[in-house]
Amino acid sequence: MQLMLLGAPGVGKGTQAKLLVKELGIPQISTGDMLRTEVKNATAIGATVKKIMKRGELVSDDLMLKIVEKRLKKPDCANGFILDGFPRTIPQAEGLLKIFQKLNIGQLRVIEIVVPDEEILKRLSSRRISSQCGRVYNLLITPPSKQNKCDECGGGVIQRDDDTVETIKNRLEIYRESTAPLINFYRKKQYYHCVDGLQPVNCVFDDILNVSIKLLKNMNGSVVNAMKFLKT
Ligand code: AP5
Repeated sequence: MQLMLLGAPGVGKGTQAKLLVKELGIPQISTGDMLRTEVKNATAIGATVKKIMKRGELVSDDLMLKIVEKRLKKPDCANGFILDGFPRTIPQAEGLLKIFQKLNIGQLRVIEIVVPDEEILKRLSSRRISSQCGRVYNLLITPPSKQNKCDECGGGVIQRDDDTVETIKNRLEIYRESTAPLINFYRKKQYYHCVDGLQPVNCVFDDILNVSIKLLKNMNGSVVNAMKFLKT
């Protein structure tokens, strides 16, 4: 199954994608994480995107399409994947359709997570991440057990460069201008669903799983097949 999680910065796409990876056994393709790795490893791509990301602006469509096409060709994507943070513009969505045709990939299923801006500001300004393993914390609901130390890898826990209040506001504006038009692009089709991201993490996850069962039912014709897929 090819799933895309659509939504503004901070609605919980990454949090939900990680839970889906465990449940469905298909990889998360987070373009934000991929770009942050390039920056961390000081690659040529990292040098190109570092300042753009810090300002909360979007990296060019051409570069993103190249990165995603290369990733989708990897064998672990053969049984499906979860797109997190891509596509983010209409040209990216159109380019993705072409990649799907070229690589003979089936229908993309889109789940939008919706959260009001005030909550997003609260969540992102209190988000912290492990500088080594990337684990995500939230100082208000899921802080690390020891201050500034990752429970998983023992590395430092830091604030993302783009999680300052000013940059979060900029990212929300860019989301409205460039990414929100994707809602209409996908909404008209039967493979679009929307969930309320204001609920606790486990409730959002249950909703996403229920929607996935519906989407799979449309695809495979029966709930039994859908349940089998979700459990394999
Ligand atoms: P990216 O990393 O994709 O950032 P984003 O879309 O802005 O999304 P976030 O990672 O900020 O939020 P999220 O929805 O994953 O929320 P999370 O689960 O962490 O992109 C970063 C940058 O890279 C872009 O600005 C751009 O420059 C570039 N880029 C990436 N892809 C690109 C593309 N396709 N084209 C062009 N440029 C691209 O949750 C947030 C917080 O809330 C966490 O602390 C979490 O613990 C908490 N939380 C989660 N769920 C809940 C809940 N239900 N209740 C309470 N708290 C919750």
